[in-house]
Amino acid sequence: MIGDGRCIGVFDSGIGGLTVVRELRRRLPNEDIVYFGDTARVPYGIKSSETVTRFAHETCDFLLQFDPKMIVVACNTASAAALPALEASLSVPVCGVVEPGAKEAVLLANGHSIAVVATEATINSDAYRRAMKRYQPDARVIQKPCPLFVPLAEEGRRCEDPITRSVVRDYLEPVVRLDPKVLVLGCTHYPLLKGAIEEVTGPDIQLVDSGEQTAKAVVLHLKSVGALADADEPGRLSCYVSDNPQRFRELGQRFLDHPIVDVTWISPEQFFACDVKVNAE
Ligand code: DGL
Repeated sequence: MIGDGRCIGVFDSGIGGLTVVRELRRRLPNEDIVYFGDTARVPYGIKSSETVTRFAHETCDFLLQFDPKMIVVACNTASAAALPALEASLSVPVCGVVEPGAKEAVLLANGHSIAVVATEATINSDAYRRAMKRYQPDARVIQKPCPLFVPLAEEGRRCEDPITRSVVRDYLEPVVRLDPKVLVLGCTHYPLLKGAIEEVTGPDIQLVDSGEQTAKAVVLHLKSVGALADADEPGRLSCYVSDNPQRFRELGQRFLDHPIVDVTWISPEQFFACDVKVNAE
């Protein structure tokens, strides 16, 4: 059988979505991935849902020129704000990170409370709670925005750094007191702080990484529609960013857990005209 050699399009507000790419590449090493990081307009986590939805549509238009077999919305904030609108308007399958994370959390919690930590915009959208209630109508959901986690992770603060520990304690101790069984890491950056988070949550609270669950959902989808790539060649990762490719390359390694080779800056003209391939030829 001949595999589907088209790429998977992935996008995020910046570098954070590389944690989702890392999980995708672990499970799908033969897939080509085209990643767009909107580094000129990051962060999305403090913007209105209308603005984030507009950005998400623009980015999907950009990615469509690569003829992807599916698009993964790696950004929690963009998934929370824009997924239904993207699903309604795009002709390729779209997978966000909220639904897979919410589903796994409900399964693991088994009727107990679930906590979600995420950006302000994701929490304000109520998208995680709504997704959980679709699986379990009486699900009890505790939501907590943790805006300082994003800059901590980007700055490379380690889990054992006293500042990281203090911020994590400040946000999460009140959550732990409410006795959830599961804590969802509902933001691309939070897996980098997992060690510090686990120190506060302890062994009785299970962590769910939305990115990891999304990668599993992507594998299931591609298998079910017979669209996996051939297994004979390693997949390529091509990254495009709207600003500062050097910073993306340097910081992104930690998020991807691998050096990043192929990063291209996209000017606003190229982005809005969606003509990068024409220009690259
Ligand atoms: N990628 C965003 C998310 O997962 C975090 C960074 C931002 O605020 O843009 O919600």
